[in-house]
Amino acid sequence: MRAVLASQNKKKIAELQAILGELGVEVLSQQEAGVDLEVEETGTTFEENARLKARAVMEATGLPAIADDSGLVVDALNGAPGVYSARYGGPGLDDTGRWQLLLKNMKGRTDRACRFVCVICCAFPDGGELMARGECPGEVAQGAQGAGGFGYDPIFYLPQLGKTMAQLSPQEKNGLSHRGQALREFQKEWEKSPYGIDK
Ligand code: IMP
Repeated sequence: MRAVLASQNKKKIAELQAILGELGVEVLSQQEAGVDLEVEETGTTFEENARLKARAVMEATGLPAIADDSGLVVDALNGAPGVYSARYGGPGLDDTGRWQLLLKNMKGRTDRACRFVCVICCAFPDGGELMARGECPGEVAQGAQGAGGFGYDPIFYLPQLGKTMAQLSPQEKNGLSHRGQALREFQKEWEKSPYGIDK
């Protein structure tokens, strides 16, 4: 099956391609499918935003479209940055600026519990959809470590490994990340569905 990835984030696309490729899905970028859409994320949940992105790209291409909406949920910050993770601190900040702001806002806090959340939605041209969620618990590190991954990975500490997400290889990250879990869950949903993975 061919599906378009409804994302412009190159690192996210690479992670999704690596995992979906293993599932036997031929994935196209939006450019390869001939569209250039930046869908506004107006939803208040990961599910709503994933659906908005997947449906818009499915409608523009006429092909099944897979979107990922993800973010970092921090308990001590009442769930922030959550669905606003990509926009935390406003448009002037890059990934480094956003995690630096998060570390500043966590200064002096002893409850460091957080989790990465990822929702995958695939919208099909017949109006059907499949949705799956993955979560990866961790802690907000005291400082940044590692150069792999993207986004908040350098400050996402995995106590069971004694490393941040940015210190893992891509394979190690996919094995435990919210995105890897959501995609494996998504594969199960897909296999149970009328769409089937190789149709
Ligand atoms: P969106 O799904 O495009 O709204 O963006 C999600 C944002 O959450 C990204 O820009 C990152 O800041 C953050 N995020 C999502 N997944 C990850 C991850 O695997 N590592 C680090 N940060 C992530």
